[in-house]
Amino acid sequence: MPRDTVDTAGRVVVLASGSGSNLQALLDTAESSWSVVGVVSDQPEAGALQRASRAQVPSRVVEWRDHSDRNDFTEAICAAAEEFAPDFIVLAGFMRVLGPSAMAHFPDRIINLHPSLLPAFPGAHGVRDALAYGAKVTGVTIHFVDEHLDHGPIIAQEAVEVLAGDDEAALHGRIQEIEHRLLPEVVTKLVKGELAIRGRTVKGRVSA
Ligand code: GRF
Repeated sequence: MPRDTVDTAGRVVVLASGSGSNLQALLDTAESSWSVVGVVSDQPEAGALQRASRAQVPSRVVEWRDHSDRNDFTEAICAAAEEFAPDFIVLAGFMRVLGPSAMAHFPDRIINLHPSLLPAFPGAHGVRDALAYGAKVTGVTIHFVDEHLDHGPIIAQEAVEVLAGDDEAALHGRIQEIEHRLLPEVVTKLVKGELAIRGRTVKGRVSA
């Protein structure tokens, strides 16, 4: 049964630019309180789109180059996501920065996954930057999205040790193992209304 027929549970739309292993973790989660009902990507060749197709989840592509500026692109992304009537938006390896209007469309309903312990190593190369800095510990952060890059209130974090001899791929692999477990846990809490934003603090524990 196509997943967009689910209408009694939380409707989750995933934005992804890459391989979509985190999307897959969400697709594979047997959780009755929510399901992934749509995928939006800025990359027509993204592996995430193939994963969506295999799971019979509808998808849309919104390319950066077809838009005049960040606001225009953000509006198009939000319009594509809105076609799926989402309750929540998950940025899972979405490599574009959305403009502030995204928060107006989906206030406190967008979360992002980042491969470092924020506020350390924000940006597109969190794993590479932690290695280059010589950090001994890095990790995973899942946070609400606000108008600043990799900045909103933190929902969950888990540490990953940097091992001697790690290269970016090895370290990222161990980080992704954590991501694949933590992200579905966070989405479940979110959908069940068990997370509350109080300033910069998110109330509601996600198990480590
Ligand atoms: C994840 O490691 C995430 O933290 C980062 O991009 C990666 C996406 O991986 N923002 P995938 O496309 O889910 O495999």
